[in-house]
Amino acid sequence: MANCASISADQFKSAMRRFAASVNVITSIDGPTMNGMTATAVCSVSADPPSLLVIVNKTNRSHPVISRSGAFAVNVLSSDQEELAAHFAAKTPDPFADIDYRIGITGCPLICDADATLECEVVQETDYGTHTIFIGRIVTCDVTSKTPLLYHEGRFCRLEGRALHYA
Ligand SMILES: Cc1cc2nc3c(=O)[nH]c(=O)nc-3n(C[C@H](O)[C@H](O)[C@H](O)COP(=O)(O)O)c2cc1C
Repeated sequence: MANCASISADQFKSAMRRFAASVNVITSIDGPTMNGMTATAVCSVSADPPSLLVIVNKTNRSHPVISRSGAFAVNVLSSDQEELAAHFAAKTPDPFADIDYRIGITGCPLICDADATLECEVVQETDYGTHTIFIGRIVTCDVTSKTPLLYHEGRFCRLEGRALHYA
């Protein structure tokens, strides 16, 4: 068993790969600049006030866009949107050129046919190492009953069945 002082980058990555996560695209806009980035580091914070957090690498193009505008949207991808997950991880020059979207009340682009979309206003921004944790107050959400796209062990995958019990 490895202790804290001896954790290598490879050990960290191989442990993190054990987390199964839903795949999201975090969208943002600042003036003429509209961006989207694939992200699994998205987490519920609290129901009161309704809030969630996203964790964004400081080198991502999305980082200054979210920080300056103070808003972002989380688009939870549905199981048939794997191509969008790859697209928004690839830093394409004009990321929304061929994408179906609508503009939400925060101004952020919302991806059509996503499993869910949640728009947020940034209420807290905390730097930690290479990343920034943005906590957002949820101002709108739109939820469907589609099935989500998942990521596990470095691969996109789908739910095989429903859990028998839930909390
Ligand atoms: C499955 C998957 C999950 C990812 N999760 C995150 C994440 O949570 N935070 C992050 O900063 N980057 C994450 N990335 C990397 C970004 O999607 C990638 O760096 C992207 O090109 C950033 O786009 P941008 O520079 O246009 O903002 C993830 C990539 C993949 C494929």
